[in-house]
Amino acid sequence: MNLKKVAIIYNDDMDMLIEKEHSITSWEGVIDTAKSVEAALKSEGLSTTLIPLRDKVEDFIKTIKLENADIIFNLCEGAMGKSAFEMNVAAVLELFGFRFTGSGPLTLSLALNKARAKGILAYHGIPTPKFTIYDLRFTNLEITNRQSKIENRKSLSFPLIVKPVQEDASIGIDQDAVVKNMSTLKNRVNYVIKSYKQPAIVEEYIDGREFNIAVMGNHKPKALPVSEIDFSRFSENNPKICTYEAKWVTDSPIYLKTPPICPADIPRELEQKLFSIALKAYNVLGCRDYARVDMRMGEDGIPKILEVNPNPDISPNAGFVRSAAAYGFSYPQLILEIVGMTYNRYQKTENRKEETGKRKEDCSFLISNS
Ligand SMILES: Nc1ncnc2c1ncn2[C@@H]1O[C@H](COP(=O)(O)OP(=O)(O)O)[C@@H](O)[C@H]1O
Ligand SMILES: [Mg+2]
Repeated sequence: MNLKKVAIIYNDDMDMLIEKEHSITSWEGVIDTAKSVEAALKSEGLSTTLIPLRDKVEDFIKTIKLENADIIFNLCEGAMGKSAFEMNVAAVLELFGFRFTGSGPLTLSLALNKARAKGILAYHGIPTPKFTIYDLRFTNLEITNRQSKIENRKSLSFPLIVKPVQEDASIGIDQDAVVKNMSTLKNRVNYVIKSYKQPAIVEEYIDGREFNIAVMGNHKPKALPVSEIDFSRFSENNPKICTYEAKWVTDSPIYLKTPPICPADIPRELEQKLFSIALKAYNVLGCRDYARVDMRMGEDGIPKILEVNPNPDISPNAGFVRSAAAYGFSYPQLILEIVGMTYNRYQKTENRKEETGKRKEDCSFLISNS
């Protein structure tokens, strides 16, 4: 593999965040991840450069061009303080013809919008909790006037969970996200729409075990050992969910009460079921290189997909890396593997293009003779 230099790009836009108090810790993490990825690649003998995306996109592109790296490691989780711009970064890279790690813009955009992703999964017969959407028309707290809509909740049964439709990292998810009756549902829908300036997705709350499946690869993607979140330290009264605090506030009691277990202690049959559902989801959403699929076990014994993360956290202590370690990859090996997969993916496409070009040349006499 003739791969020498990797440019690591990440969003450095904390000062532009709209809802700072709700998400600052998760956004800070991106810079640390970029540094860890850089150290990993250096330790594998590659030359690297770190390129932050701030507010000047032209400068960002110019720097990428100047650096002339073989591969771009795309760690951007958004731009200009908005996670919705995650896909735009990939789209710009694609337009400029850069070779970059991870999924393309379409997959990133579909997965970021949980409702759209779930619609596609459901169409393909992939299990996901029943849901509905409440849109921005509720911003004025005039829910009473629109009660008919909220009360016709497409036969969803309580308890329900209310989440911002396009956020990540459990932004907007705390213990009050799980609602048990109509009045708390209305309040929470209003809260999410007003605070996060986007529709709220309301989903059936699945009380079962929570699993994360890391998937890697392109032609024949593979699932890595299953990770489970252990909720056994929770009291009966608290909903067993991974809130923002549980994921990011490392000294909070709830963080300590949600330890991951990897590999999960599950029978082989369940592992195969989880793998098969995760791989199907990876394929139908068009994921590339690596992704993580989050699932909960339904009462009916069928694991249900909460979401697909085509740009999952790959910092050294993230769930994805834990699964990769259980598979046998050290951190530098994992990062190198991702870069290698990306490199091969572009090589294959470029070879295919050359092949097609040659075939056209071979047939050129047909055209000139006609
Ligand atoms: N339908 C659900 N039933 C039970 N728990 C859920 C459900 N949806 C989300 N959760 C809990 O909330 C957490 C975050 O939700 P998720 O949909 O994965 O959003 P994010 O993109 O913010 O990670 C999950 O890890 C899980 O603990
Ligand atoms: Mg999640």
